[in-house]
Amino acid sequence: MPTCCTLVIFGATGNLSQIKLLPALYNLERADHLAPSMRIVGFGRRDWTDEHWRGEVREILGQQLGERLDGAVLERLLERLHFVEGDLEDDAGFQRLAQRLRDDDGFPPNLVFYLAIAPTFYGEAADRLAACGLSRPEHGWARLVVEKPFGYDLESAEILDEHLQRHFHEEQIYRIDHYLGKSTVQNVLVFRFANLLLEPLWNRNYIDHVQITHAEAKGIGKRAGFYDGVGALRDMIQSHLLQMLTLVAMEPPPSLDAEALRDEKVKVLRSIRPIPRQAVHAHAFRAQYRAGQEEGVRVPGYLEEEGVDPHSTTETYAALKLYIDNWRWRGVPFYVRTGKRMAATRSLIAIRFRHPPQQLFSDTPIEQLKPNWLLLNIQPNECMRFELLVKQPGLTMRTQTERLDASTCSIGRDHIDAYEALILDVLSGDHSLFLRSDEVERAWSVVDPVLKLWATEREFIHTYDAGSWGPREANRLFDKEDQHWRNGLDE
Ligand code: BG6
Repeated sequence: MPTCCTLVIFGATGNLSQIKLLPALYNLERADHLAPSMRIVGFGRRDWTDEHWRGEVREILGQQLGERLDGAVLERLLERLHFVEGDLEDDAGFQRLAQRLRDDDGFPPNLVFYLAIAPTFYGEAADRLAACGLSRPEHGWARLVVEKPFGYDLESAEILDEHLQRHFHEEQIYRIDHYLGKSTVQNVLVFRFANLLLEPLWNRNYIDHVQITHAEAKGIGKRAGFYDGVGALRDMIQSHLLQMLTLVAMEPPPSLDAEALRDEKVKVLRSIRPIPRQAVHAHAFRAQYRAGQEEGVRVPGYLEEEGVDPHSTTETYAALKLYIDNWRWRGVPFYVRTGKRMAATRSLIAIRFRHPPQQLFSDTPIEQLKPNWLLLNIQPNECMRFELLVKQPGLTMRTQTERLDASTCSIGRDHIDAYEALILDVLSGDHSLFLRSDEVERAWSVVDPVLKLWATEREFIHTYDAGSWGPREANRLFDKEDQHWRNGLDE
């Protein structure tokens, strides 16, 4: 059971809180993971009493969970809830919060501040918490949780970090990348370091290339205000996809201790070959969806989406080719790509092995041996598959691909949301699944040269049909003719 604390949610009435945090807290309550005297304070602009906030949460969870909502669990959670009215830009609300936490001895002195607010307010919120003495409380500890995006580029990330660290020490800060909370992503670590079988093959001698794909069938929805001007490279690759890449590529850490793990991830990011400005086009590709079809129905193009600048050249698709210059990976391309309005919603790590060194079968009807693939499907369902060649039955020497499927190919009924795992880790002070400041900065350094060049090329952007697997022109990133995108386990 994690240490008892008071969890303060800034932006308690916002989207993240409603869609992710409250359902995660409900599930943790249901599983008896919350300390009995833990309290949860919502901080927001509405002039609400505790009772009103409880009523709102009752409604939100009712909508989110429907019939699955257990009345007794809900009541237990509601009893923990309190509300403090306040504006992020006004000292008065923070002072009210500090006073309430001090004066009411029911609030445990250990404090977690969850900033579920627009990143532009992170710095100010930290300033105001510090001004009220909440960043370094006299009794107990204080932790600060921030969501991505951490900055807009390398420079702004450094400035933001410097700002937060004026008031909070690094060990007080929990930077969330919710992909690290997904059990399927954590499974990459287990798969690599709990099995000896593949380790001898996990390097440049046997692996031809690695692909990491995150595709989404949905468009940007109502998020134009955030997305336009940000784009796919910042939104997905700088964070989630580079995190997955580090787990695939890292060396075994000496222990699973947070620092040991993060040291190894940072080493991977530091080893990624910088992309010089003149090489950006050979290493990066961007595009934007145009109108297309989804299950036979027309879906709008990006420029038609509500709130998008009709001349926007923000990319909704981005692909990168990266090299990791170390002993294990030198010369092996890592292709990462992501896109909105693609043909399906899916995240996949696909590892292609090299051809055998000798073409023993060249005098047989076998024309070309297909390479072996290892496919790790991250979502929507967890699956692991090996593709191996076997002889076709019959008198002639021909091959066919056989699939070895792991029995994990199912969507577990007890699926745990990433936020449950992450909240629990914050409460118990475990940093392993959170990003350290040098990690965030290194990840920005990887994409920064591409962002800088793209920012100057605002006249033209390639397009792709909504509902497709992205632009064909992105194939130009491949090093060899026989390399092609794996779109899924079967494609
Ligand atoms: C978020 C991005 O961080 O991750 C979104 O801002 C994206 O654009 C989302 O849709 C994907 O997360 P998940 O968990 O739905 O795969």
